[in-house]
Parts: sequence; C-alpha cells; structure tokens
Amino acid sequence: MATALITGASSGIGETYARVLAERKLDLVLVARSRDTLEALAGELRDRHGVRVEVIAKDLTQADAVPEVVAAVTEAGVAIDTLINNAGFGDYGPFTENSRDKQLKMIQLNILALVDLTYHFLPPMQQRGSGQIINISSIAGFQPIPYLAIYSASKAFVLHFSEALWGENRNTGVKILAVCPGPTKTKFFEVAGFNPFKNAQEANKQSLSPEVVVRQSLEALERGDCTLVPGEMSNQFVANISRFLPRWAVVRAIEQQFRPHS
Ligand SMILES: NC(=O)c1ccc[n+]([C@@H]2O[C@H](COP(=O)([O-])OP(=O)(O)OC[C@H]3O[C@@H](n4cnc5c(N)ncnc54)[C@H](OP(=O)(O)O)[C@@H]3O)[C@@H](O)[C@H]2O)c1
Repeated sequence: MATALITGASSGIGETYARVLAERKLDLVLVARSRDTLEALAGELRDRHGVRVEVIAKDLTQADAVPEVVAAVTEAGVAIDTLINNAGFGDYGPFTENSRDKQLKMIQLNILALVDLTYHFLPPMQQRGSGQIINISSIAGFQPIPYLAIYSASKAFVLHFSEALWGENRNTGVKILAVCPGPTKTKFFEVAGFNPFKNAQEANKQSLSPEVVVRQSLEALERGDCTLVPGEMSNQFVANISRFLPRWAVVRAIEQQFRPHS
C-alpha cells in the first residue's frame, strides 16, 4: 500500500492533502505539533476511508525532530513513497524588529527540516525507481519581499532546491514538484501577523481554496511538471513580472506595498 508523509497536516493545505490522499486510498503519516488535532483527523480518515494513518506529533523547529520522525516511521514499518514537505510559517515585520528566535526557527522549519526529510526519504525512492515529493514554496519565493525577508528568502530556497532536484531526478523514476501558491484560505496570515487585504470580501476574492492548491498540484505531479503556480493567471503574472524589471525596481515597489502602517 502506498504511504504519504505530510508535514503540517493539522491545518490548511497540509490537512487538505491528508483528506484528498486518504480519499485516494493512500496510507498516511501525519506530522505537526498539534497532537490532538492530528489524532482527530487520523480517526476520521481511518473511519471514512479505511486507510492506515500514523500520527507523529513533533515540533520540526527542534534540531533532533527529523531524525526522530524518521525513527518513528521506521518503527511503524512503513515505506514512504510520497513526501509532502508542507509545514511552514511566516513572520511579518522589519527584520531587526522581529524576534531573532522566531526567525531562526522559521529557517529551521521552512528550510532545514524540509532538506533533512528529503535527504532521508529520497534515496529509498531512487532505489525503488519510484516515488514523489511535493515541496511547498510560495509565490513569495519568486522575488524578495521587504518585511517578509526571511520568509520570502526561505521560499526562494525551497523553489530552487526543488527545481534542482527535479533536474537531478528526471531519469530516476522519482517525481519532484515545487508548488508556489499565492494567497490561500488558511491560518497562514493570522500566524504571520499580517493582512494584505483591504477587507474580508477582497481576501475572499483574491485567495485560493486549499482544495484548488492540492488538486492542481497532484495533477501537475502526475504530469511530471517541475514547478506549479496554482490558481488564476494573476498569480502567474506576479510570479513572472520580476523577470522583466530591474531587481531594485521590483524591491522598491514591493517595499511600498508591504510597508507596515504607522
Ligand atoms: N496560505 C497561504 O496564503 C500560503 C501561500 C503560499 C505558501 N504557503 C505555504 O503553505 C504551507 C502550509 O501553510 P498553510 O497556508 O496551510 O498554513 P497553516 O494553516 O498555518 O498550516 C501550517 C501547518 O504547519 C504546521 N507547523 C507550523 N509550525 C510547525 C512546527 N514548528 N513543527 C511542525 N509543524 C508545524 C502547523 O501545525 P501545528 O501548528 O499543529 O504544528 C500547520 O499544520 C506553508 O509552508 C506556507 O508557507 C501558504
């Protein structure tokens, strides 16, 4: 039976991957910090779809977390053939005014945990000649974003890392996809302390549902695509516009757009 490991499965995009993949009869390993939420979701998915669901409650910003996740997966006796590196967060504000600890944890979660999980689970996929990895980057990864400096840089890392691995793995039978969503209806903005919308109506109109992100990404993975910007053409436009303008002009325009209101 195929098994998918999903990080950040307790809410938003990760929870939606869990629901959609269980519906497709994949066994699951769910990882996030919120044990009770993960257990409730696991119970629901076992009952509804008859799939095996393991819960690993772990704070992936802790240095030993990934080796502990790998050990728990080994102990459970499952082989991971789909890895979804989704857990991540942002933190809005001027770099030097934001918490040092929180920004270093963001790098640990958004970058280091993702790299380490990939380092552990990709080789067995290559040996089997099959498998798939989805790494959640962001539309924020296409250009620097003042006041989301670490977040946008972390997502640029995820984008480049994933695309490079896609290139390395074209003949291994392992599919790798970088997913770069624009604004999506999850807890992301609440956690990041940031609201880019004028009002709820605009937020609703300009945000994707996590279902669209997940379904489009699974289709792109199936096709063997390298990168996906889900949703409308406007997101494709934002992702590509910076290629046609001087970098300083892009950063200046974004700085004005994202500058905190005094
Ligand atoms: N929503 C958007 O507009 C948007 C756009 C582009 C990209 N993204 C990316 O999409 C991914 C999913 O975010 P989301 O939008 O679904 O937001 P979300 O609803 O806040 O979900 C974030 C998930 O990450 C988990 N997580 C956070 N810190 C963690 C930690 N230290 N250890 C383990 N798990 C942790 C959370 O679970 P616990 O709190 O239980 O640990 C939760 O399951 C992120 O990588 C985000 O950067 C989001």
